[in-house]
Amino acid sequence: FTENEVKTTLLDIALPDDDDDRLSVRITFTPIHRRGEGESGIIAVLQDVTDQEKLEQARREFVANVSHELRTPLTTIKSYLEALDDGAIEEPQLASRFISVTRSETERMIRLVTDLLHLSRLDSKQSMMSKSSTEVNEMLEEVADRFSFQLQQRKIHIGIQVEPGVTNLLLDRDKIDQVLDNLVSNAIKYTGDEGTIQLRAYKLERDLLAISVQDNGIGIPKKDLSRIFDRFYRVDKARSRNMGGTGLGLSIAREIVKAHGGTISLESELGQGTRVTFTLPIQQEAEDEL
Ligand SMILES: Nc1ncnc2c1ncn2[C@@H]1O[C@H](COP(=O)(O)OP(=O)(O)O)[C@@H](O)[C@H]1O
Ligand SMILES: [Mg+2]
Repeated sequence: FTENEVKTTLLDIALPDDDDDRLSVRITFTPIHRRGEGESGIIAVLQDVTDQEKLEQARREFVANVSHELRTPLTTIKSYLEALDDGAIEEPQLASRFISVTRSETERMIRLVTDLLHLSRLDSKQSMMSKSSTEVNEMLEEVADRFSFQLQQRKIHIGIQVEPGVTNLLLDRDKIDQVLDNLVSNAIKYTGDEGTIQLRAYKLERDLLAISVQDNGIGIPKKDLSRIFDRFYRVDKARSRNMGGTGLGLSIAREIVKAHGGTISLESELGQGTRVTFTLPIQQEAEDEL
């Protein structure tokens, strides 16, 4: 120690009973100087910074993921443009194939950036909720309508079941539509032709409504279930990418449901199907309005 020097060090301690959990402790050493006596001791301050470290780690992973996800389509676009420049442009068939690849990669980047913007708005609470009274049955029918073309193409049957007594709900329609669109688009993506999707709405408790989207598709392996709502987490990156996925759909859905005061969960059996259920509080005002 030189005079007035303060030293800090970060200790990572593995907890004895736990394989994953670690404790991060920041220790700050400050020398004590007494006039005439010189250095007479050191004060050590220990601070538990485990949560900060975890947050910082998550942030680093997120930035690395985003960079990677953006870089992949850019590299593809660049190489196809170079090939065009190198002469492929003179061969009409090749040229049109290369251009359509660059185009679909561009569209993927747009989807990714749009999803990222949604997430960052939800994070910063910039996006104000604008709730209005919404008829649940109608809302579910409209989701099914939005996907009717894809459903028909893949011969997937969609059923809607709304428990009697479920009527209006106070919610931000645009945002809940986004949740439903994400869930139904997953159900369609990960269900084989001629599959079945079931949308349900039912009261869980007096003031809690549940909405579920169930499919009889490929399902999700047990080991992936705990991370499925993580940003960019996909069971099979290559497959998800081919399907136009960004790996952000479920995490966006979770943020929106959370902002409404609800929760979201997923159950799945490999090869059998998947059910995602989210809850929404039934607010008293909505009932009083009727
Ligand atoms: N209904 C489903 N059936 C099977 N797998 C699913 C289903 N919904 C989500 N998944 C898995 O969860 C992952 C994350 O979903 P999501 O966040 O919507 O990302 P994306 O759809 O962009 O791949 C998907 O990549 C897929 O592996
Ligand atoms: Mg998705």
